[in-house]
Amino acid sequence: MHFTYNLAALAGLAQGWPNFEKHSLVPRAISYIDSETGFTFSETRAAATLSSNIVYRIAQPANVPSGQPYDVVLQVVAPNSLGWVGLAWGGSMIRNPLTVAYPNGQKPTVSSRWATGHSTPQQYTGAAYTPLTKGNKSNGTHWQFTVKCTGCTTYTGSAGETTVDPTGSKRLAFACASGKVSNPSSTSASIPVHDVYNYITQDFSAGANANFAALLSKNGVSGGATGNATEKV
Ligand code: HEM
Repeated sequence: MHFTYNLAALAGLAQGWPNFEKHSLVPRAISYIDSETGFTFSETRAAATLSSNIVYRIAQPANVPSGQPYDVVLQVVAPNSLGWVGLAWGGSMIRNPLTVAYPNGQKPTVSSRWATGHSTPQQYTGAAYTPLTKGNKSNGTHWQFTVKCTGCTTYTGSAGETTVDPTGSKRLAFACASGKVSNPSSTSASIPVHDVYNYITQDFSAGANANFAALLSKNGVSGGATGNATEKV
């Protein structure tokens, strides 16, 4: 099923007359400071169903030189009703890095994929994921992962080499399914087709981190200094 409803508009309608004209759209992306990892993320909530959201958070170094590849930290919080969630960094399913993740006990598995058509994506070696020591967990209602990605924001797609602008708003795509993955500890597990796909607008400017490499280091991960070459770790 493909949700095209505007939930904010529906919420506005639900408020009913006479307050109808007062309703305003919620900002699409906000800054979220994660006290656990210390990163400042841009955050978007994507409707997985009419009553549940997937939260997509992206952090990147401040002052990335124009056109230069850069690492990101991706944090996603998903309801336990979902068997997998995905993010398409180029804004569509085909020919761009796909981050696919599924719950796996306490620590979700994150898998790098790439699709050449509207069929099961294959594994993709152009992007590498490193889990942070914090921010990977699950509880009775949600599962969450937090990873560094090298290669998510620069890729060779249908339009040649493309780098996602770290300073602007960008349309990304997401997908999810309630169907569970049968061998969730494997990064090459088969995933059932999505029940839902849709688009989110991520305002990267809300997730710039001047101390990106130092924060990675605090979370047990090296690298990530792109755009911050003079930063002291
Ligand atoms: C078993 C795996 C998958 C299969 C079989 C599959 C199949 C398909 C098919 C048949 C469509 C077109 C259907 C329609 O128009 O309603 C589609 C569209 C789409 N899929 Fe997938 N898909 C898979 C995984 C993924 C993943 C992992 C993502 C993102 C992380 C994704 C994102 C999208 C998006 C955004 C669209 C909308 C059209 C587009 O952007 O190309 N899909 N998929």
